[in-house]
Amino acid sequence: MLKPFFCCTLLLASSPQQPTPGPSPTVIPAEAVRMVNPVKTTPESLAHAKKLYGYDCALCHGTIGDGKGDAVADMKLQMKDYTNPATLKDMTDGELFYIIRNGKGQMPAEEIARAKDDDVWNLVVLVRSFSKK
Ligand code: HEC
Repeated sequence: MLKPFFCCTLLLASSPQQPTPGPSPTVIPAEAVRMVNPVKTTPESLAHAKKLYGYDCALCHGTIGDGKGDAVADMKLQMKDYTNPATLKDMTDGELFYIIRNGKGQMPAEEIARAKDDDVWNLVVLVRSFSKK
């Protein structure tokens, strides 16, 4: 007969080595913060990012990035205003990339099926451009 201890070890050994699902991470790893945008933005890549932004981001962040999207009131979101140059000045491109890729708090992750890493870097550039007149 199997001893209970033995059962448990078996169970543990067979469990898949995947990160446990849970709430979105709020601590951004230091190496992610330091990441430098490896992508060269072109008019085409930025146009594609604008399209993605319109589908996936504007409902919360607003068409012009002012944080006044249609879902904000219903979801009781606290949004930042990206048209103000001071808003994102203390965040690195790596941090913005990480948050868009992984989500944060009430913000969902941008799925890899919808946006490749290159697209996410273009979204970082786009988000920063909202404060440029
Ligand atoms: C459901 C609403 C929602 C959607 C959709 C959404 N966001 Fe957010 N976003 C948020 C909220 C809320 C925060 C603040 C998260 C926090 O700090 O807890 C945030 C944070 C961010 C940040 C970090 C700077 C900041 O404002 O704190 C960036 C950059 C960002 N979002 C970009 C995007 C982009 C690009 C998309 C589309 C791919 C997107 N978001 C989609 C709600 C949303």
